[in-house]
Formats: sequence, C-alpha cells, structure tokens
Amino acid sequence: MIDVVEVHKRYKSGNRWVEALRGVSCHIERGRFAFIVGPSGSGKSTLLYLLGAVDRPTGGSIIVDGQDLLAMSESAQNGYRRDQVGFIFQSFNLISNLTALENVLVPFMPRGISPEARQRAIDLLTRVGLGDRLDHRPYQMSGGEQQRVAIARALVKRPILVLADEPTGELDSRTGDEIYTILRQLQESSDVTLVVVTHDRRFIRPNDLVLEIQDGQMISRNGHVPSPAHSAVATPG
Ligand SMILES: Nc1ncnc2c1ncn2[C@@H]1O[C@H](COP(=O)(O)OP(=O)(O)OP(=O)(O)O)[C@@H](O)[C@H]1O
Ligand SMILES: [Mg+2]
Repeated sequence: MIDVVEVHKRYKSGNRWVEALRGVSCHIERGRFAFIVGPSGSGKSTLLYLLGAVDRPTGGSIIVDGQDLLAMSESAQNGYRRDQVGFIFQSFNLISNLTALENVLVPFMPRGISPEARQRAIDLLTRVGLGDRLDHRPYQMSGGEQQRVAIARALVKRPILVLADEPTGELDSRTGDEIYTILRQLQESSDVTLVVVTHDRRFIRPNDLVLEIQDGQMISRNGHVPSPAHSAVATPG
C-alpha cells in the first residue's frame, strides 16, 4: 500500500539547512494501524505530511496505492490530497462559524453537496456519537467532541489513507481513549490505512505497526532494526 524509499527532506531555515529526514524507508500494508513514534523534532510530522502530499520530499520516492507521489503533477497531487487522504490534527482545525455537520461537509464544498454526501456526513457523525450535535458549533462542543467531528470530516470522502498528527495531544487521557476506540473501530470495519503520530504508546496494540524515528532516520520497525539494504541506520560499535 505505502512504500517509502530513501526519503530525504531538507528545510531551509534562515541561512542554514535542516535535515528533517535523512533516508527514511518503510512499508505499510493496506488496512494497517501504523504508529510513527520518536522524540520531538525527529521528523514524524514531516514524514506524515509527505505521505499526504502536503509537501514534496527533497529525495527518494513515495508510492501510495500504486501512485508515485513525486511523479504526479501538482493538480494530481491536489486531487490525491483532496479525495484519497483524510487528515486529523492535534488542534482539530474545525471552522469556528460552521456547525458540526457543515464542518464534516467542508471537503465537498468546492463542488457542491449532494443529498448522498449530506446523508453520509450525518451517518458518520452518528457513528462517532454526535448524532444529537449536528447543529453545534465548535465552541459549543468539548475537545473530544470536536475531534470526533474532525474524524468524521476525515472520513467523509472514503479515503484510502487517514493521517493523524497527535490526535489526542490536546485531550485528557479518558477522552484520548474514546478517540482511539473510534479510530480502531474505523480501522477494523474498513480497509482504510491509518498512520498516526503519537507520543503516547499506551494506545499501541500488539498487531499494530510501530515505526520509530530518531534524528530523521527510521531506527526500528516493530522493535526490530530495519535491514541495512533498506535504510542507512548507523549501528553503534
Ligand atoms: N517548515 C519548516 N522549516 C524549517 N524547519 C522545519 C520545518 N518543519 C520542520 N522543521 C524542522 O525539521 C525537524 C523535524 O520536524 P518535525 O515537525 O517533523 O518533528 P516531529 O518529530 O513531528 O516533532 P514533534 O514531536 O515536536 O511534533 C525539526 O528540527 C524541525 O525544526
Ligand atoms: Mg510533530
């Protein structure tokens, strides 16, 4: 499903370069619940946003569902990001003057909202337990409720890939549990691939894929050091 090969990402910061990713390779099977873990500044968000074609790598290749993200034209990348990827952010990123239902429908707004789309949005909000909150605006909802709206928004276009950057980072631990329960139900009931950046390993289950990044390099996959053929990890000694 996802093949990342020797990906590099450099950012220019003032007059110096930051090497955010230094030859990252990984494979993520379809339908997996994959976690990206690692210290702050290690490149987790950078990798996540490259998978979503929000940005382009400086080198290497990323193939998602047979599509070479680097070979795509800009408009094909926009289409991929719009139609095939759902994003969930730490700070929910809802539009404050729209209701829960309208927020979920935002991905359809550029082209108009069909009755089917509207019904799907209502069904999704009901599935995440917000069937009685359709008309609430973000300030009328708790953080956990806002994140559930954001999950429904991420799913409304039936993406093949959902990317979440610390989705429970601003929530208390009980609300965090609820969010992961919803994400897990989603992963178990469909063949969507979920890639989640987290600092909290409490939510990781034995069948999940755990990719550990440090200093812009993949240092382990499910606790094992990746094979040297696939990454340039320096081994101590
Ligand atoms: N747009 C940017 N311009 C310059 N440097 C950047 C940019 N984005 C990220 N970086 C740098 O790249 C490195 C990796 O950043 P990234 O955001 O991927 O880390 P992270 O693992 O997600 O960290 P955190 O856990 O704190 O969110 C950091 O050193 C960061 O300062
Ligand atoms: Mg980050």
